[in-house]
Amino acid sequence: MGKKKSIVDFYEMKKKGEKVSWITAYDYPMASFAEQAGLDMILVGDSLGMVVLGYQGTIPVTMDDCISHCQAVRRGAPNTYVIGDMPFGSYQVSDEDAVINACRFLKEADMDAIKLEGGVRVLSKIKAISDAGIVVFGHIGLTPQSSGQLGGFKAQGRTVDSARELIKDAIAIQEAGARALLLEAVPPELTEYISKKLSIPVYSIGAGLPCDGQLIICGDMLGLFQAFTPKFVKKYANVAEIITNAFKEYVADVKGEKFPEDKHVYHAIDSKEAFEALFREFEQ
Ligand code: KIV
Repeated sequence: MGKKKSIVDFYEMKKKGEKVSWITAYDYPMASFAEQAGLDMILVGDSLGMVVLGYQGTIPVTMDDCISHCQAVRRGAPNTYVIGDMPFGSYQVSDEDAVINACRFLKEADMDAIKLEGGVRVLSKIKAISDAGIVVFGHIGLTPQSSGQLGGFKAQGRTVDSARELIKDAIAIQEAGARALLLEAVPPELTEYISKKLSIPVYSIGAGLPCDGQLIICGDMLGLFQAFTPKFVKKYANVAEIITNAFKEYVADVKGEKFPEDKHVYHAIDSKEAFEALFREFEQ
């Protein structure tokens, strides 16, 4: 296992053209698999609301949910750069709220950085958190917390007018002090332009190849999350099928008394006769 990376390493990787591999994880086992596999970064996304907690979207996710999942991920991946995702309502109200909640990710869950969604309208929050000494990742394009305003989970920046606003957002986010930027569901031409224009690393989720690295949701790429799969997901496994088949086999084994077998039980140390005498004691 390599040395834990820092934000400086990610700047170096951008300079050298070395791509960052980034995945979401929400619990101890997934985080430890990610670390064993050599992922560069983990995001404890508020997508946990859908992928793990079964909500329709990310809006109901609370700060306490995020902290608890970040703590589990940190226990599973002590040597990986982990970013905590600020949930809806934890930074929108005031700069002070934003700093207090961002600090919780570092103090209570040992996160390396935080991510928040939005462009020019959250600049004061990015600046305040960054001024508090915390590494901030911006996130623009398809921003799930504002999918209501976007008219659903829709790709962004596909027209010149929309792309212009995203370029302005990206530049302003860097100027406000963000140390990295995530682009979600925008055309690759725009991704390429923004990643060349900015000096901070620019990463993609559904935004194509030409940037500094890729993020994917673990539940999507593993085939664990079945409600819907965005166009930009590549499925590397069908874990839902593996788990469901294992459960079905277990049900059949239990019903057919094929489990547990002799090798799965703890045999008594004392003799059969001694146990029979014990049982007789309770029958008198
Ligand atoms: O919550 C999350 O996993 C995210 C990704 C969709 C980028 O923010």
